Amino acid sequence: MEVVIKPAQETARLAADAIVALIDAKPDAVLGLATGSSPLGVYDELAKRHRAGEVSFAGVSAFLLDEYVGLAQEHPQRYRNVILTELVDRIDLDPARVHGPDGLAQDIPLACARYEQAIVDAGGVDLQLLGIGTDGHIGFNEPGSSLASRTRIKTLTGQTRVDNARFFDDDVDRVPHHCLTQGLATISAARHIVLLAQGGGKAEAVHQMVEGPVSAMWPASILQHHPHVSVLLDEGAAARLQLGDYYRQAFQAKPEWQGL
Ligand code: F6R
Repeated sequence: MEVVIKPAQETARLAADAIVALIDAKPDAVLGLATGSSPLGVYDELAKRHRAGEVSFAGVSAFLLDEYVGLAQEHPQRYRNVILTELVDRIDLDPARVHGPDGLAQDIPLACARYEQAIVDAGGVDLQLLGIGTDGHIGFNEPGSSLASRTRIKTLTGQTRVDNARFFDDDVDRVPHHCLTQGLATISAARHIVLLAQGGGKAEAVHQMVEGPVSAMWPASILQHHPHVSVLLDEGAAARLQLGDYYRQAFQAKPEWQGL
């Protein structure tokens, strides 16, 4: 795991650099997209670079991490709608190539199995963007999730529903109880994982993910088993790290050609 501690805007630029370099090398790259606040700076950066003519997403396809169960097609917080607004509408990525788990499916296990297959059929995810929950979830794999899990239905914890109430007019009762999420094994199959976190509220989860034991209690800790993970943090999110100074020194001394 590589840990980079920089101001949030700089981490957004680093993540965008990695995505642009990937698309340069592989114009039909498969991106894994996260919703929530953490990747918004990256999406702004990608939109800016697209406007400047520096990158085209015309050949790219994308898979969402997760989706709420039961939110109506047109609901603004449906993650497919969120990602269209935050990213897809601002670049030349074809909405038909943006896939997400179907939170309105009649047969949920079948929809989840089909989603897994669609990722495989696309050749797998080249670069997966992630945020992390205050309880250590990635996707919506809440504490206690199987480390070998695949796309399935999950129940959100009370904490996650409180954390996400800000997207539902601060009314926790409007936050759905269920979601469909890529599993921890699904996420771990991506070839490069770029996780962003900002603010002190994430500090304990980040510490457990990077420096704690691998445990279903802190689901993001499964990423310690992945060969290529970039963890991009601001000072607040890095505040609990035991080896913070080492991570800073390592990044400072890193040869530029290496990228993330
Ligand atoms: C979103 C997702 C979640 C968020 C996490 C952090 O698609 O899968 O794991 O990344 O809840 O949310 P923010 O970024 O809003 O703090």
